[in-house]
Amino acid sequence: MDNRPFIVGNWKMNGLRASLSEARAMDRVVSRHPKVEVALAPPFTLIHPIRAAVDLIRVGAQDCHPEASGAHTGDISAPMVADAGGDFVIVGHSERREGHVESDGFVREKAEAARDAGLGVIVCCGESDKIRSEGKAEKFVIGQLDKGLPLTEGAAERLSVAYEPIWAIGTGKVPTVDEIGEMHQAIRGKLVKTYGEEAGSQVRILYGGSVNAENAAELLSAPEVGGALVGGASLSNESFGAIIMAAAAMEEAE
Ligand code: 13P
Repeated sequence: MDNRPFIVGNWKMNGLRASLSEARAMDRVVSRHPKVEVALAPPFTLIHPIRAAVDLIRVGAQDCHPEASGAHTGDISAPMVADAGGDFVIVGHSERREGHVESDGFVREKAEAARDAGLGVIVCCGESDKIRSEGKAEKFVIGQLDKGLPLTEGAAERLSVAYEPIWAIGTGKVPTVDEIGEMHQAIRGKLVKTYGEEAGSQVRILYGGSVNAENAAELLSAPEVGGALVGGASLSNESFGAIIMAAAAMEEAE
């Protein structure tokens, strides 16, 4: 079990081969901060080139199809991600749930397929601002996990959950440390209930949504936060490197 903070950059639909120099620069930052585990999820087209360009950063995909192969135009399977050099997959991101009408059940199928292919999995969850304003955020998120967490043998191994409130993604708004702590504690309870005390307490719970170099230390200090899933601020080494260093400074201070 890896207890290091896990800092993951989700490049979404950004990045051309010209971005490889940024990934190399990030890798150099990581080499100076071994107490932090760092990963990038670039577009599929860059998984293999980034894998070849970096030594320490883990590389993964932003999605996969539940089936290994077949007539699914435009989709990529978990074994293909592994074949390209990826070692994890993000599933259930709100931009996929909304833009591609993905249900919790479909997210579970993807997570289980990724696990079967030997990949790590990051399952995303998070509520809209409407749901939060109605006071139903926790119930909604736990419901997403109830139907979306992988349940196959050994599913909790190499699993992370990312709590990403939709209203915080790309908006500059972030929940308070107390709000994050409450949600992460509820997620921890769900993980323990699903996988048992030992396995469920080892799954890292990441926070995502407008994480940047300035707020990273505060967000990472919230209870049960085991890392961050970073969008916009993961595209350049200037900001992502600073987030990695903020996480490292916290570890080194302990
Ligand atoms: P931002 O960091 O750009 O808000 O995106 C968060 C996110 O969706 C990461 O998956």
